[in-house]
Amino acid sequence: MLNEPKTEKFKIEYLQSLETGKDAKQSWGQDVKEGLNQYPKSIPPKYFYDDRGSLLFEQICQLPEYYPTRTEASILKQYSGEIAQITGTCELVELGSGSSTKTRLLLDAYEQQKKGFKYMPIDVSAGILKESAIQLKQDYNSLDILGLVGTYDEALSHLDSFASQRRMVFFLGSSIGNFSDVAYDNFLDKIAQVLNNGDYFLLGVDLQKPKSILEAAYNDSQGVTATFNLNMLNHLNNRFKGNFDPNCFKHKAIYNEEKKQIEMYLLSEKKQKVNLEALNLAVSLEKGEKILTEISRKFDVEDTKYKLASKKLKPIKIFTDENQWFALILSQAIK
Ligand code: AVI
Repeated sequence: MLNEPKTEKFKIEYLQSLETGKDAKQSWGQDVKEGLNQYPKSIPPKYFYDDRGSLLFEQICQLPEYYPTRTEASILKQYSGEIAQITGTCELVELGSGSSTKTRLLLDAYEQQKKGFKYMPIDVSAGILKESAIQLKQDYNSLDILGLVGTYDEALSHLDSFASQRRMVFFLGSSIGNFSDVAYDNFLDKIAQVLNNGDYFLLGVDLQKPKSILEAAYNDSQGVTATFNLNMLNHLNNRFKGNFDPNCFKHKAIYNEEKKQIEMYLLSEKKQKVNLEALNLAVSLEKGEKILTEISRKFDVEDTKYKLASKKLKPIKIFTDENQWFALILSQAIK
């Protein structure tokens, strides 16, 4: 573990922590209860990300079949300079920063402008945020870093109160694809709310493409995505004193062409009963019954531009790869 630099230009703030906040803790169990009590059953995707799950996700990003990460990185590599030129020096706010790997491409471009700027990584996972922020501070000495540990909602509400220079909020990796329609809508409202007139929003979206490419990306040949999906059950066991046996479930991901979304499921391989003691919850599953663990929506550029514009986030420029598999949409808040 690296040591935290002792300078005014480096700070990590803990917002109402998921791990310690009483209300937050309750809401974490409550959503599992609701999901497993309804039909069809579901578990929110945030339960993928315990320490092992976060590591597995990093592995997914390196898989040959999982094209989004490297495609988005190639777009950033090609166009970060242009993005920085359009926006000028900005305070950069990254939602779901994780290991901040791709971010370096943007930071390099903004650093070249030779004007000091602030980088605010935001993530729920304190460990990964702190580690990558310390590493970034070592590599970009003049950078002013303020990390926020918390959910997107907590962090965006917190941002509201800052008076600062021009701001660009960015949300990469097509993580917005994991939101329900309502959550997507609310999220964009919130983004529009925290941006001042002229501020920017850079959004990474995975685009619609043939089913075979999509299904291969979520059913990789090494079985890493399957392990990632099944690990959610271990996480629930640890967090809520459960007795899920991951060996009695199977991973399955399909592309729902009508809804334009990948749907990831855990299939019960037998009729079984599972208890989550800390939630006082008993779950009965039929043989073959599915639990939905994630949707990953695939976007259309025109629809997304329209949606952003409806929130007064005016699309300025679209950056994409040669196959048009992924897009970065730069929009500007018009108030
Ligand atoms: C984090 N999110 C954008 C990933 C996705 O592609 O929807 C999560 C993932 N699930 C399986 N593989 C990757």
